[in-house]
Amino acid sequence: VSEPSTVTHPTDSPVTRHDPRESAERHFPAGFLWGTATSAYQVEGAVAEDGRTPSIWDTFSATPGKVHGGHTGEVAADHYHRRAEDVALMAGLGLNAYRFSVSWPRVQPTGRGPAVQRGLDFYRALVDDLCERGVRPALTLYHWDLPQELEDSGGWANRDTVGRFAEYAHLVAEALGDRVPLWTTLNEPWCSAFLGYGSGRHAPGRTEPLAALRAAHHLNLAHGTAVSALRSVLPGSAKVAVSHNLHLVRPATTSAADRDAARRIDALGGRVFTGPMLDGRYPADLIEDTAALTDWNFVAEGDLEAIRQPIDLLGVNFYTPTVVSATPEGQEPGRADGHGGSAHSPWPGSERVTFRQPPGERTASGWAVDPSALRELLVRVAREHPGLPLLVTENGAAFEDTLDADGAVHDPRRVAYLRAHLEAVHRAISDGADVRGYFLWSLLDNFEWSEGYAKRFGIVHVDFATQRRVLKDSARWYGAVARANALPQ
Ligand code: NOJ
Repeated sequence: VSEPSTVTHPTDSPVTRHDPRESAERHFPAGFLWGTATSAYQVEGAVAEDGRTPSIWDTFSATPGKVHGGHTGEVAADHYHRRAEDVALMAGLGLNAYRFSVSWPRVQPTGRGPAVQRGLDFYRALVDDLCERGVRPALTLYHWDLPQELEDSGGWANRDTVGRFAEYAHLVAEALGDRVPLWTTLNEPWCSAFLGYGSGRHAPGRTEPLAALRAAHHLNLAHGTAVSALRSVLPGSAKVAVSHNLHLVRPATTSAADRDAARRIDALGGRVFTGPMLDGRYPADLIEDTAALTDWNFVAEGDLEAIRQPIDLLGVNFYTPTVVSATPEGQEPGRADGHGGSAHSPWPGSERVTFRQPPGERTASGWAVDPSALRELLVRVAREHPGLPLLVTENGAAFEDTLDADGAVHDPRRVAYLRAHLEAVHRAISDGADVRGYFLWSLLDNFEWSEGYAKRFGIVHVDFATQRRVLKDSARWYGAVARANALPQ
């Protein structure tokens, strides 16, 4: 019995059975960066060595009640003394990039004046080790450890800090510009401004809504002036970026009120930074939503031009989506904002928004696992900013890992999380997002800010009593992905 030739049987087709595109589909673009990420205060320790002075996180973590268990970054993962071992670990896994941050008070202790050579020497040795082993350094200038002296003069709420930051950027670029191909100005300025000065959940622990907005503006300006400072020193081949946690915000329902709540949080959680940095203006709806607090008179003539400096890549940090609804009249707003439930809101002017916990799996941080939100975020950002390549500068998860008697750490949930999120990145690339690399948070278990050492994000287990490192299953899995430049079938 013959069938009309126009009828095809896809399942019989060799193309379908051994579709070469299927394996090709799992590959990432050539030259894709496969890295891990850490930050200075979270891993280095050695807080009083070689001329380093306290940062706002030393002060904050020494303040009773601020950090889980009274933990501090005094020793952390002792990376300052174990640098070579840690670089060997990543090289051994086959990773080709590493994102780390420079501790401002280690290289410029008072936030002013010349650099301290011993502080710079540590980073010089680190980038030398990385380059020697074929791991590309990606340097973040500011991952939250402001010199305490600058906070004593007002911190990010004080406009003077902007000039201080540009000077610091200049110093670091002069010292390391010949060896570092990728520079990031700020990491998650949302947290610096709104958790640092709004909810008080992060250092310096201030709870002043207006100061939080001023801090956001000064961080924007610090980014722009630092980009200019970097460009004046770095070779033309160096790339400059910034990393944001943009809060992929979803309304709980399609009601107009819930959609308006999502719009507000999208403005305060992302567009407050991407607006001026990428489009040269603050969003009109943000100005309106915060009108009861400020007329934004701290934005001076020329600031917006200074902020909008061309960047080469946009860094996106992603962990979980944000789901919101409008708080009904007469009801207290929900506290599940994913940022520690401080009594003070990190969302100035939007206190009548309720943060919802989406159903389904959660990590040890209580964050919902939803890789579709990462794909959506990357595709959206790519569409809104055509021509701007993207980097996932952080993604990962904390789980309750245990070191087994046989010396292994089996972390299947982290492997599943990573696989699903890398699939999402892969899909976003197929959808047209120009994603150039992925940095897993984190290489090592480390100091998780106000959660102390209670949340383990590493693919390498750290026994904080002995500082012994043990590769978790996820490290081996991720190394194999990096070496293949592809996800396993
Ligand atoms: C964001 C921050 O950049 C990093 O320091 C932190 O540890 C991770 N997310 C996990 O919360």
